[in-house]
Amino acid sequence: MQRPLLDIQHVEISYGGSPAVQDVSLQMEPGQILGIVGESGSGKSTLIKAAMGLLGEGVVTRGDIYYKGVNVIDAGKETLRRLRGPEMGMIFQNTGASLCPVRNIEEQLYESVRQHENATREEVRFRALELFENMRLAEGERILQSYPFELSGGMNQRVGIMMAMILKPNLLFADEPTSALDVTVQAQVVKEMMKMRELYGTGIAIVTHNIGIVEYMADKIAVMYQGRLVEYGDVEQVIRHPQDPYTKKLIGAVLRINRN
Ligand SMILES: Nc1ncnc2c1ncn2[C@@H]1O[C@H](COP(=O)(O)OP(=O)(O)O)[C@@H](O)[C@H]1O
Ligand SMILES: [Mg+2]
Repeated sequence: MQRPLLDIQHVEISYGGSPAVQDVSLQMEPGQILGIVGESGSGKSTLIKAAMGLLGEGVVTRGDIYYKGVNVIDAGKETLRRLRGPEMGMIFQNTGASLCPVRNIEEQLYESVRQHENATREEVRFRALELFENMRLAEGERILQSYPFELSGGMNQRVGIMMAMILKPNLLFADEPTSALDVTVQAQVVKEMMKMRELYGTGIAIVTHNIGIVEYMADKIAVMYQGRLVEYGDVEQVIRHPQDPYTKKLIGAVLRINRN
């Protein structure tokens, strides 16, 4: 049997002694897309940060998290450094805003790759152009030569996503990656993530408030409520026959909006 890409087992995560996540278990297979939904403060970001070893003040107080069999919670700094980027990538709501303002995009992509591999400028440039083309991002050449302030917010976000994707991670955590974007750009970003899975077999865990995005992208859905996983299963199954009252409300709210 294939080892899960990500295996979260009975995890509890606390900040200053009070648990923000309780008894959450879920598994992702390679290339699978998991949609994580739930109201603000339900522990979605905390869970993702724990899986990347980026909790800050938070502590995993129970359970285990394995990335391809490696226990992330016990992993030392060096192991985490090796995993983050080429194995597990992360993008978030304002990934684009965290680009360096005084370096052009090509320079930043180069530096990002160089932190993990001994690639030449030419190689990185070639890979970037190929990636832009694969992601149907026109004018790759111009984008590479641009500084972030010369690009729109939506384009910066897409470049930020490319920054994670150029390392071809096996698992991409996307924490509300499209929330700050116009609807048309949201759709492009969603398509780019799908393309990434198609081309490279990337597994994606995406946190979003948009059930439509989950329905379109995800194989599985995890619904969180007050730090707990209240529903978890195949997307179609859960959307058609939600069991949990909170999930019912969430799905009902979307259908009501769509009716107008
Ligand atoms: N750095 C932190 N210090 C203390 N409490 C935090 C911290 N980050 C998150 N929390 C708390 O943990 C809970 C879950 O937060 P979070 O994971 O950000 O939820 P979500 O991403 O679902 O909105 C919330 O109650 C939040 O206040
Ligand atoms: Mg969050």
